[in-house]
Amino acid sequence: MAIKICGTGSCLPKHCVTNDDLSKIMDTSDEWIRSRTGIESRHLVTDETTTFLSVEAARAAMQEAEIEPEEVELILAATISPDYVIPTLACEVQRELGAVHAVAFDVGAACSGFLFALNTAYAYLKSGQYKNALVIGAETLSKMMDWEDRSTCVLFGDGAGAAVLKDVPGEEGILSLVQGSDGARGMVLSCGGREIHNPYVKTERKLSYVQMNGQEVYKFAVRTVPLAISDAVEKAEIALDQVDYFVLHQANIRIIESVAKRLHQPMKKFPSNLQKCGNISAASVPILLDEMNRKGMLKKGNTIVLAGFGGGLTWGAAVLTW
Ligand code: UT7
Repeated sequence: MAIKICGTGSCLPKHCVTNDDLSKIMDTSDEWIRSRTGIESRHLVTDETTTFLSVEAARAAMQEAEIEPEEVELILAATISPDYVIPTLACEVQRELGAVHAVAFDVGAACSGFLFALNTAYAYLKSGQYKNALVIGAETLSKMMDWEDRSTCVLFGDGAGAAVLKDVPGEEGILSLVQGSDGARGMVLSCGGREIHNPYVKTERKLSYVQMNGQEVYKFAVRTVPLAISDAVEKAEIALDQVDYFVLHQANIRIIESVAKRLHQPMKKFPSNLQKCGNISAASVPILLDEMNRKGMLKKGNTIVLAGFGGGLTWGAAVLTW
């Protein structure tokens, strides 16, 4: 029994914002953003919703996987920026697709969300409870940014990516998965929910925005991601040198370079799209995977590592055969 990614899709909002565009509306510069992160531009929603981006990505993934909406059994949406608290993004996608037989729910693990959703889908499929799953990572984080906080708002972008997982007998697919959490350090990357407010406790109702201690998150990422990847590779019983591509969460090119160095692997194995997309949290890994797939970079039999890290703090890695 092999649980395999049989189709991918992605969707970016049409409005592209360059670093120079941002420098016209806040005290920043292309030089600062590019040298600190590698980011050159990002796509931000204007009239697109998280649901719209997800459905576009899902349709593309389903087309490649040759699966009809009525056949989908499980929909998992990883997001921290759904359109509604209720209904969930996964249920919104189910409605739009007409996936009437699916069970749908969201997975919240910030930038590790896609890896956590993949792991959850894998467990369901492996147990035999469902035969296929549509796994989505989608964000419209621009609505959760403090646009007066230049240290965070320049880093993030909007978009969605999707993958269809199927149980394909006689083939290889996902070989190993690892995930972890460290809630004790969670407040280094946070966004508040609603304050307590009821007839007995009155608080001033205010919106919360994403706040990040960038240096602490950076240190966490460069230490934890290589360990998670090494762990997943060992669990898959392969050597690091056998990996064709490492598809990492696209937060910062310096983090990716540091991970490559710590794993003694060449940068050519670490594709990136953060230059044009910025950090799209849960969507970054499936969007990059889809771009590689559409460019024909992924050959049958390739060994691929996926890795996510971020808010929670959380991290996850997977090894799979394409
Ligand atoms: O997806 C979740 C995972 N997230 C991450 O992995 C993010 C990890 N962290 C990072 O990528 C980096 O820490 C950042 C890119 C966020 C920041 O880079 P840094 O080298 O740690 O910069 P810094 O925060 O130490 O700021 C350095 C300076 C400060 O000025 P002073 O105090 O040295 O005078 C900031 O005020 O840069 C200033 N600064 C800016 N200047 C121009 C902060 N933001 C900006 C900006 N434009 N946008």
